[in-house]
Amino acid sequence: MPKGSLENHLFRRGPQPLSWATRIKVAIGAARGLSFLHDAEEQVIYRDFKASNILLDADFNAKLSDFGLAKAGPTGDRTHVSTQVMGTHGYAAPEYVATGRLTAKSDVYSFGVVLLELLSGRRAVDKTKVGVEQNLVDWARPYLGDKRKLFRIMDTKLEGQYPQKGAYTAATLASQCLSTEPKVRPRMAEVLATLEQLQTTKNAAKHSQTEHQTVFDPVHKSPLSQHRSPRNLTPSASPLLSHRQSPRVR
Ligand SMILES: Nc1ncnc2c1ncn2[C@@H]1O[C@H](COP(=O)(O)OP(=O)(O)OP(=O)(O)O)[C@@H](O)[C@H]1O
Ligand SMILES: [Mg+2]
Repeated sequence: MPKGSLENHLFRRGPQPLSWATRIKVAIGAARGLSFLHDAEEQVIYRDFKASNILLDADFNAKLSDFGLAKAGPTGDRTHVSTQVMGTHGYAAPEYVATGRLTAKSDVYSFGVVLLELLSGRRAVDKTKVGVEQNLVDWARPYLGDKRKLFRIMDTKLEGQYPQKGAYTAATLASQCLSTEPKVRPRMAEVLATLEQLQTTKNAAKHSQTEHQTVFDPVHKSPLSQHRSPRNLTPSASPLLSHRQSPRVR
């Protein structure tokens, strides 16, 4: 694909940083892909949703790649499929990692992680960071529901060029996708609808400088100094679930 993967654009030095509008466009394209799979007559659970598997064409239309782990969804009265745990650490839903019970809501969780990556420009798991900052979800979660603190997790490469309301809506959506309880997570069709609204609202198109300059604080404080996880969680960043690099883990 001409523009490579979302991972390249978000985390590698070199390419132009992605604008807010492009990030939303990519999120919409990827959400549409998952939504299509989940709502197909025979449901497909993608299972390996992550930035490196979102490929971009010349116009930043997103395409999902690597269907190697995709799995047929539950049929009949079944609520889930039981399966060997595979996927990628940092993106896989906690209940799936813990029990092997796979539902479409596992993909919704992974989508929430990628949405956070789009907002923050940080990787799901980053071993070069210290403590809670190694795990994006643990680090960012406390800031997602707080309008006044959200800027602290926003990607500094955006240089404040994003609509505050739009960012807050996206952060709230990410937070819902990342709910510990799978049933509480929205369906991908709902996620898609919310993101599409974000793209069409005036608020997304017109992000006047003045609007966010009132609140945007150019000093990107490390939330670590403000917040410590109660569990002081230091997640293992090993690709424990990577189907390539390590044995499949139950
Ligand atoms: N058709 C393609 N066009 C452009 N870049 C691609 C294409 N296919 C893969 N890539 C990029 O090449 C790199 C390696 O991809 P690969 O799928 O082998 O590994 P991965 O996505 O990091 O992990 P996984 O094996 O779990 O999918 C990634 O950065 C990926 O985004
Ligand atoms: Mg891949």
